[in-house]
Formats: sequence, C-alpha cells, structure tokens
Amino acid sequence: MILSAEEVRTLKQAPAVEGVLPVVLSRWSPRSFSNRDVAPADLARVFEAARWAASAYNEQPWRYLVGTRNSEAHKKIFSTLIGFNQSWAGSAPVLILGVASTKYSHNGTDNAYAVYDLGAASSYLTLQAAALGLTTHQMAGFDHEAARKAFDIPADYAFGSVIALGYQGEPSALGNEQMIAMEIEPRERKPLSKVAYSAWDTPAKLG
Ligand SMILES: Cc1cc2nc3c(=O)[nH]c(=O)nc-3n(C[C@H](O)[C@H](O)[C@H](O)COP(=O)(O)O)c2cc1C
Repeated sequence: MILSAEEVRTLKQAPAVEGVLPVVLSRWSPRSFSNRDVAPADLARVFEAARWAASAYNEQPWRYLVGTRNSEAHKKIFSTLIGFNQSWAGSAPVLILGVASTKYSHNGTDNAYAVYDLGAASSYLTLQAAALGLTTHQMAGFDHEAARKAFDIPADYAFGSVIALGYQGEPSALGNEQMIAMEIEPRERKPLSKVAYSAWDTPAKLG
C-alpha cells in the first residue's frame, strides 16, 4: 500500500520530547518533491536563518550557490549529482550547493573549522525550511571537481552538501518500488546514551 504524503509526514515525525523545538522533530529528508515552487520571500528566509549561525572567529565562511527550477545554476548543480541522486533530485524546485572558504580572511591562515561552520549554517537553513513547511534533502553524492569547474569555485573553497529544497511530494511520484520503500522507512537514531558521555565509555547521566 502506498502512503500519502501526509501519512508519510506523520510517520517521519520524531517522537515528541517535551521542550524540544518542534521543527527539530518534524524535519526529515524526503526524495519526492511536489511541483510547487518556493516563494522568493521564503527562499530569502532560509538563507537569513543560515546567516545567523555561529562560526569560528565569526568568519562566516559559507557561500551558497542557489539554483531555482529551469535556471542555469539548477542545471549545473543537477549535472554534478551522482546517478542515484539525479534519479530523484531533479524535481526539487531549488538546488543549493554549499561551499566554505578554508582561509581566515583576517590573516590568510587555514580555517580548520570552515566546513564545520558551513554544516552549522546548513542546519539552520534546514530547520528554517521545516518551520516554513518546506522540506530539504542534503546530498554528499555529487562530483566536487565538476561543481568546482561549473561555477569556477576557487581552490581554497571546500565543499559541503548539495541541498534539495521544496515542498514534499507524493511518495507514489517517485515511480519505483525501492525508492518508495525508502521514502516511507521510519527514521532511526542512536539512543541518547550513545550520544552524550561523561567518560569515554560512560554515558552521561542526563535529565
Ligand atoms: C551531509 C549529508 C549527505 C547526504 N548525502 C545523501 C545523498 O547523497 N543521497 C541521499 O539520498 N541522501 C543523502 N543524505 C540524507 C541522509 O541519508 C539522511 O539525512 C539521513 O538518513 C537521516 O534522515 P533524515 O534527514 O530524514 O532524518 C545526506 C545527508 C547529509 C546530512
């Protein structure tokens, strides 16, 4: 039986934990996107959220290349994706490529936290998107050098992920059984005892 988009959304919701931000619990990564476009004001809002992430030395090393449907940038980003990701991500109305400057601007030395900070900004982006009723799906499966070439990205910029952004679509639109099965898999996480420790092998006593 194929579930509807709404049923999948309910299934993907993380179990409620009192006091945890609702968007943290509701964000998930679909592969089916509806054909609804993202309003420019909402697109601006997701990057506004990313802007406010913390970063080492307040360097804000992130830079995003943004492609909206049918644009040159969308085509370029799509062309760098591995085959599996191309099989679903083309229907996302927005494709975003995140890169980070690996040199500090104040003294030109290496910034070992550049990609870490890009990841933080991208997390803000995905949570802001969830708060707006949008969905995101990040991808590591793309050809970095092809992306570097396509956008003339300087050698001292490192890559984060490609982010597909849009509204969740019907699982049935994915067309093939394996993809539909992945779309309706429950989300899983390690228990808290495997996340926070008070010594290397001792889970922290929390709550
Ligand atoms: C950095 C990063 C790279 C990822 N790469 C891919 C990818 O190339 N293809 C894909 O289908 N999903 C990719 N994912 C999605 C993850 O598989 C997904 O986030 C994870 O299974 C947790 O599911 P959730 O986001 O729904 O909670 C990636 C996620 C992240 C954060």
